[in-house]
Amino acid sequence: MTPGKIMLVGIGPGNVEHMTARARAAIAEADVVIGYVTYIKLVADLIEGKEIIRKSMTEELDRAIEALERARQGKKVALISSGDAGVYGMAGPTFEVLFQAGWTPDVGDDGQFVDVEVEIIPGASALNACAALVGAPLTHDFCAISLSDLLTPWPVIARRLAAAAAADFVVALYNPKSGRRTQQIVHAQRLFLQSRRADTPVAIVKSGYRRRQNIEFTTLAHMADADIGMLSTVLIGNSNTFVRHGLMVTPRGYANKYAVEGEKSTHAGEQAGRSLSSGLTGWLAALQADHAAGESAAQLAARHQLPLAYVQGALAATVEAQPQSAETEAQE
Ligand SMILES: C[S@@+](CC[C@H](N)C(=O)[O-])C[C@H]1O[C@@H](n2cnc3c(N)ncnc32)[C@H](O)[C@@H]1O
Repeated sequence: MTPGKIMLVGIGPGNVEHMTARARAAIAEADVVIGYVTYIKLVADLIEGKEIIRKSMTEELDRAIEALERARQGKKVALISSGDAGVYGMAGPTFEVLFQAGWTPDVGDDGQFVDVEVEIIPGASALNACAALVGAPLTHDFCAISLSDLLTPWPVIARRLAAAAAADFVVALYNPKSGRRTQQIVHAQRLFLQSRRADTPVAIVKSGYRRRQNIEFTTLAHMADADIGMLSTVLIGNSNTFVRHGLMVTPRGYANKYAVEGEKSTHAGEQAGRSLSSGLTGWLAALQADHAAGESAAQLAARHQLPLAYVQGALAATVEAQPQSAETEAQE
């Protein structure tokens, strides 16, 4: 018997229109569809006539074990996750189960998979979907942190929150609150207030692209009082994020280089398509000049909020000029 296939399908935020063509095709070609009851409901009109295995929220490993069993019987199995299967989704637990069961991705001399084939089908994660609903909050460095302490100790989560807040990342908080977990968002707020302004913009998207969609703009000071549930994603802006005309926007950084209003020109000392004067090369030169002028490595490390060992290494580095012929970098 030829082994079957497991397809880890990210179905996007929940609306069929935001599902990829490959995700729809994967569900269509599956013999068996396995998923959390709510996700099965979201794809109800695509699964008629198929074997459906509905599992509860906490049965992730069961879902993966069941998928492997069916696939080893020669079936094509669609294991569905909301958003993207690789973002707090079924992809990780599935590979854990597969490796435990001795699975490998090997292909034999005949070009066939020795064991079951696995395909991962990407989908728009909640952070993509929620960002699109509120404007352009993720156009600079961002990270995702889950507040779920079901499988992660709180000090680990708290350290990540504190580090992301201090490093000025835009942050998408997944699993911010549930009926039983009500205080994690309060602690997250406290940690953020240690290094972010109280008026930092926050957007809360509940059930994005689903029937009960709700969008709320607030600030870090009031974040924990907002209507947040299991189906909410909380987007916390960085120190440059603003809200205008009901849209949350994080600047890409053009104002660092160009006069954004009026005639299009670069600021003095800046060049289009080149690193900023305070980019790596310029910064190294300035750092070494400040050191030569008497500032110690420790003082420089404190001023730039960087590890001392790194600053010591940077002081010893050779500063190379940017080659004139360098390609212009992609800006998108
Ligand atoms: C277990 S995680 C699953 C994430 C999913 N794999 C993804 O990529 O979006 C569940 C969390 O995702 C977020 N989420 C999922 N769908 C959402 C939606 N339609 N609107 C807002 N947040 C959503 C919420 O933070 C929720 O608590």
